[in-house]
Amino acid sequence: MNQLLKIRKMSTASVPLSALRMKYMEKKEAFLEENIRVKEPINLFNEWMSQAMQTEGILEPNAASLATVNSKGCPSNRFVLLKDVTTDGFTFFTNYGSRKANDIENNNNVAMTLYWCPLRRSVRIEGTAEKIPKEDSLKYFHERPRASQIGALASEQSSRIPSRQHLDQIEKKIKQDLGDDKEVPLPNWGGYLIRPRLIEFWQGQTDRLHDRIVFRKHAGVEKEVDNVLIHPAENGWVYERLAP
Ligand SMILES: Cc1cc2nc3c(=O)[nH]c(=O)nc-3n(C[C@H](O)[C@H](O)[C@H](O)COP(=O)(O)O)c2cc1C
Repeated sequence: MNQLLKIRKMSTASVPLSALRMKYMEKKEAFLEENIRVKEPINLFNEWMSQAMQTEGILEPNAASLATVNSKGCPSNRFVLLKDVTTDGFTFFTNYGSRKANDIENNNNVAMTLYWCPLRRSVRIEGTAEKIPKEDSLKYFHERPRASQIGALASEQSSRIPSRQHLDQIEKKIKQDLGDDKEVPLPNWGGYLIRPRLIEFWQGQTDRLHDRIVFRKHAGVEKEVDNVLIHPAENGWVYERLAP
C-alpha cells in the first residue's frame, strides 16, 4: 500500500493510470461455491455487507452506483445510499421528481453496483424499481436528522437553479416558516425498492482470474438447471459461475 501511495504522490501528471496496480486476493482466498453457506443471494449479500461494515477503510459500505435509462434508451448513473435490504430487495431514497425518478417512471429497469475496495469485492444487482408505500417513506423521512429533512424539502433535485445562494435562501425561508418544532412536511421524496432478478458477486484475484458467481431468478429459470453450468439455489434462484 505504501508503495502504491509513493507512486501516486510522485506526480499525478507523469504517472499513467495504466501503471496503477492493486494487490487483489491470493489463490488460497478464492471465492468458491463451497464458501457460500446458504445458496441464496440476499443472505450472501448481507454477509458481504456485514464484512464490509466491519472493514476499516470502508467509510460508506452502503454507497452504491445506480444506473437508469432515459426515454431515448441512454443510460446514466449516480451514487445513492442503500438503506434497506430484505428478501424482497434493495431500498434507496431519493427525490421523486429527480432525473433518476423520471427515468424509472419511463423504464423501471435499473442496475446497481457496489464496490468494497479493501475487500476487493463488488456486487452487481439488476432488477426493476418500484416506489415503496408512502407511509414507509414518511417514517424513514422523519428518522433522518432535521437538517437533512429540510435539505430534501429545499431541493427540487435535478432541476436548474441560478446559484448556491438561491438554495440557501429557500432553506432559510423553510427554517423560518417551520420554527424549531413544526414537523417538516414530506416533500416529493421517498424510497424505491429494487426487486432483483440478477445478483452477481465478484471477488478480485491478483492473477486476474477473478471469481464471479451470478444468481438469477425469473419465471421458469429452474428449468435451466443442469447441475453442470447452472445450479439450483434457494427461494427460486439458480446460480452459475462466469469467466472473469
Ligand atoms: C456517496 C453518495 C451517496 C449519495 N446518496 C444519495 C441518495 O441516497 N439519494 C439521492 O437522491 N442522491 C444521493 N446522492 C447524490 C446523487 O449521486 C445524485 O447527485 C442525485 O441523486 C441526483 O441524481 P439524478 O439527477 O441523476 O437524479 C449521493 C451521492 C454520493 C456521492
